[in-house]
Parts: sequence; structure tokens; C-alpha cells
Amino acid sequence: MKKESKDNDLMEKIVSLCKRRGFVFQGSEIYGGLGGTFDWGHFGVALKNNIKQSWWKKFVDSRRDMYGIDAAILMRQEVWQASGHVAGFADPMVECSKCKKRFRVDQIEDEKKCPECGGKLGEARQFNMMFQTKVGASDDSSATSYLRPETAQGMFVNFKNTVDAFHPKLPFGMAQIGKAFRNEITPRDFLFRQREFEQMEIEYFVRPADWEKHFEYWKVQMLSWMEEVGIDMSKVHELEIAKEDRAHYSSRTVDFEFDYAFGRKELFGLAYRTDFDLKNHKLEYIDEEDKLKMVPHVIEPTFGVDRAVLSLLLSAYKEDEKGGEVRPYLKFKPNIAPVICAVSPLLKNKPELVEYANTKVFAPLKAEFGRVIWDDNGNIGKRYRRQDEIGTPFCIVVDFDTLTDDTVTVRDRDTGEQIRIKTSDLKNYIKERI
Ligand code: GAP
Repeated sequence: MKKESKDNDLMEKIVSLCKRRGFVFQGSEIYGGLGGTFDWGHFGVALKNNIKQSWWKKFVDSRRDMYGIDAAILMRQEVWQASGHVAGFADPMVECSKCKKRFRVDQIEDEKKCPECGGKLGEARQFNMMFQTKVGASDDSSATSYLRPETAQGMFVNFKNTVDAFHPKLPFGMAQIGKAFRNEITPRDFLFRQREFEQMEIEYFVRPADWEKHFEYWKVQMLSWMEEVGIDMSKVHELEIAKEDRAHYSSRTVDFEFDYAFGRKELFGLAYRTDFDLKNHKLEYIDEEDKLKMVPHVIEPTFGVDRAVLSLLLSAYKEDEKGGEVRPYLKFKPNIAPVICAVSPLLKNKPELVEYANTKVFAPLKAEFGRVIWDDNGNIGKRYRRQDEIGTPFCIVVDFDTLTDDTVTVRDRDTGEQIRIKTSDLKNYIKERI
């Protein structure tokens, strides 16, 4: 089988697993879908929350030099004029004279011929990717606003507020997690290129002379977080971005690329934004030591939540075969898995098993770990398959022996092995493994 079709198969398997198991659905699906938008189901929300919490814990909660912010998505148009996005946040686009479809120039093979109908493509023109809207009832141009295309500006425009409120000394950072919107010409590859997605960004303010040292430091930090959440590091590659390909604000960019099933493409990025943004917003910093005014420079580690999910799904997806049956499972690290353990009574029509499983296993584990689910649907084999696809590391089953010896079966997702342990040891057993 050709590698390409194998990889297409893998994407199909992942997209269908995500729908089947309630991770991700197409946006507006019952009305035919809205391109570039996705809705997140129960386990998808849990996975994203775990990713975001792990990021916040590492980069905000466990540091002294980081200040969180949650800025409004709608901002005055002056923000986007100063940031250069009104003038320069555009992709070159061509339109087919026959079928009227539009394409990004860098995503088609022949700039003259439509990849869909073979028609003639027109001249390339710049297409601004910001979603424009009007704020309030007025319809004039002063009411124009944009949905933010990056969370970064929410931090720059709150730089002064943060300095005035917390008096941080350089170097220090601001961190934000939130939605960003880009009217992508051709959204594609499932979660990879969407029109509405989530970012986790840091703007780290440094003395200009120190930028290289901090750039190198953040490279290491970014890689270490990727490893902590379980991204397959053998698929991650660093790419120094050439000057002509960098964003308008960046003097140096390193992309971390990932080997997705559809090719090696950007996962996260690290940029040296110099004083570009603070200067354009006319912001400065007064050094408390020498009382001199200066404009700090910015190192920006940026992470896409959705690409983190996609790379984790591709890293975790495994199949093994037993007795001629293929078993797909998601080998998530327990800290990131949407569910830590599932609890089942062997038979759901035996009240004594249900009672024991509910009161002595499920309730105390739920109170301790939160991400614990009750699963009594179908036979045990079916429950295991379902939990394997959700990526649940442990399945606990209460059976008739439990009622006499207070032990339960704990099944390991990755090996399929089952062991019996004392009900009273369950909490510690799981704690040690997460
Ligand atoms: N503030 C800098 C910035 O926005 P970017 O490289 O344009 O830089 C940052 O975006 C990250 O956001 C990317 O590395 C990627 O993970 C994610 N991202 C960007 N565009 C995306 C899209 N259309 N769909 C999903 N994620 C996207």
C-alpha cells in the first residue's frame, strides 16, 4: 500500500473516531456544515481542558514572572491598525473564472489552472483574513471592529495595565488562552487549518540586549512542554523561517513542525517580535532601577490548542491485533487523557454489583479524580473497546468475587492485562500512575 493512502486512511480513522466517541464534530453539521469550524463534544472538551491546564500550570502557575490575562475578543479597530494586521494580515488569493471558487496561491500547483474544474484562474490579489464586524447600531466606519486573529494583541494593549497593577521587573511575561479567528481561504486537514481556533500565547518582555538568550531559553521550554503532554517528539522538527516568509512583526521565527498524516507542517512557533508592537501602540516601560524609559523587546512562544489536540491524537493513535481483530486505542498520557478510569459492574441487572460499584468504587474515585466515568453499556468486551478509543488508561470491573473478597479487576489500556487489587488500594494505585 502506498504511504500516502495509508496516511489518508489514518486521518479518516481519526476523524471518524473523534465523531464516534464524542470528541469533535463538524460545526453546524445538521445544516450541511460550516467550513473551518468544529464543535467539541464531551471528551474533546476534557482533552482540550487538560492541555490548557497543563500549559497554564507550567507557564503561569509555577512561575513568578508571568501574569495571566483574559482580554476581550472584540477590540477597537485602532488596535489592528497599529499592529499592522489591517494593512498586512493577508494571503494571496486567486479566483476561478468558471466555477468562482477561490484558492490560496501557495496551496495550488498551477497558478493559472483551477484545481477543481480546470477553468482559468484570475490574477492573484491580497485577501485580508480578519473577520470584520460592526459594534453597536451605527453603520459607519467608526463602528468597524474585528474578531481577533491572534490573542497576542490583547496582551500588548494591556501591557500598561499589567505594569501599573503588578509592578513587574524585566524580564516578565503575559500569558493568555483564548479563541482566535481567521477567515482562511481554504480551511483544511481537519483541525489543522480552521477559521475559529484557540491559541495559548506568551509575550515575554526582555531587555533588548538579552533577546537571544531568552529566545534559546523559550525554545527549550516549548519542547519540554510538548514532551510532557505526550506529543511524539520523533515527529517534531525545528525550522528556522527565512526572512521573506516571516510574519510582518518578526525579526526571527523558529517553527516547530510536526509530521502530520498529511505532511510536515507547523505545530507551534517562537518569534522575536522586537519592540514592534509596544512601539506601535506607543507604550513604554520605566525601569525602576535607573528610572529610565525604554521599550522592552518581546519573545513570543505561541501554541495552537487545536494543533496540540491533532498532534496528540496522531501521537497517541495505536492499533494492535488479537485473534484477527484490530483494536484501535489512544495511548494518551494519564495527565492528558479525557477520562482517567471507567467503572463498571460486570452485569448491570445485578443490584448487588451495581450497589458495590457505585458506592465503594465509583463515588470515592470520582470525588478524588473527577475524570472518572460510569460505563455499564453493552458487554465487558464492548466497554473495553469503547474506553480504549477514548484513551482511558484504566477500566475497573466489579464482579461476583468482589462481593466476597473486596478486590476488583483493573485492566490496563495499553497491554490489555488485568490484575486484581483491593478496593481500598485503588486510589493509591491510580495516584501512583498519574
Ligand atoms: N501571535 C502569533 C501568531 O498568531 P501564528 O503562527 O499565526 O502566530 C500561532 O499562530 C499558532 O496558532 C500556530 O502555531 C498554530 O498552532 C495556531 N494556528 C494558526 N492558524 C491556525 C488555524 N487556521 N487553525 C488552527 N490553528 C492555527
